[in-house]
Amino acid sequence: MIIKKVELIATAVKKGQYPADSLPEIAFAGRSNVGKSSLLNLLMNRKSLARVSGSPGKTRTINFYEINEKFRIVDLPGYGYAKASKSLTETWGGMMEEFFESREKLLKVVQLVDIRHTPTAQDIQMYEYLRYYKLEWLIVATKADKISRSEIQKSLSGIHKTLELSEMEKIIPVSALKRTGHTELLEEIEKLCDFYFSQSLERE
Ligand code: GTP
Ligand code: MG
Repeated sequence: MIIKKVELIATAVKKGQYPADSLPEIAFAGRSNVGKSSLLNLLMNRKSLARVSGSPGKTRTINFYEINEKFRIVDLPGYGYAKASKSLTETWGGMMEEFFESREKLLKVVQLVDIRHTPTAQDIQMYEYLRYYKLEWLIVATKADKISRSEIQKSLSGIHKTLELSEMEKIIPVSALKRTGHTELLEEIEKLCDFYFSQSLERE
């Protein structure tokens, strides 16, 4: 897929600020500092559309990016931010619920986990959230450049086991630094969108 146009169409903390539910969406979730904004910039082929920072907790709003006027990438605020106050944590939970409950055209949630670690308690909680809302998910392991090639497979099977994924499910390793894995991810997204549009043609 060639990304011709990317536009940040909305930044929201509540439902009233969401754009109309008119296009299919793929949301990205992950622990704060997991490398979500870096990956999104790489995917969308824009240097610094999503803000990258050394201090975790940068993305605190739900950001809707419209791609090629065809689908949207939704950047969800990171969780597990160590310094986050209780009220911030509650706000985060409320924001997620509101989002997951209301988006009719949410095709998939891409959940990012750090390839170096087994998923944290909060990663698992997020994943259970997705199951609870009966959403489709895709697990992506970030910062693949931080470990050696031979460690990658081992690490992926550890994540696979911890999240109790089915045998069929694959985890895509990516590195925003080395610019690897994003093409495969983009292909998955393209397939989903194509399928969505072929189904909606049938419904017409
Ligand atoms: P918040 O918005 O704060 O929740 O974080 P985020 O998940 O958007 O992470 P962000 O992209 O801002 O990256 C966090 C830190 O990890 C930055 O210092 C990045 O440079 C670094 N980082 C991101 N991706 C990679 C990667 O693929 N490899 C390496 N080595 N570092 C990365
Ligand atoms: Mg971010």
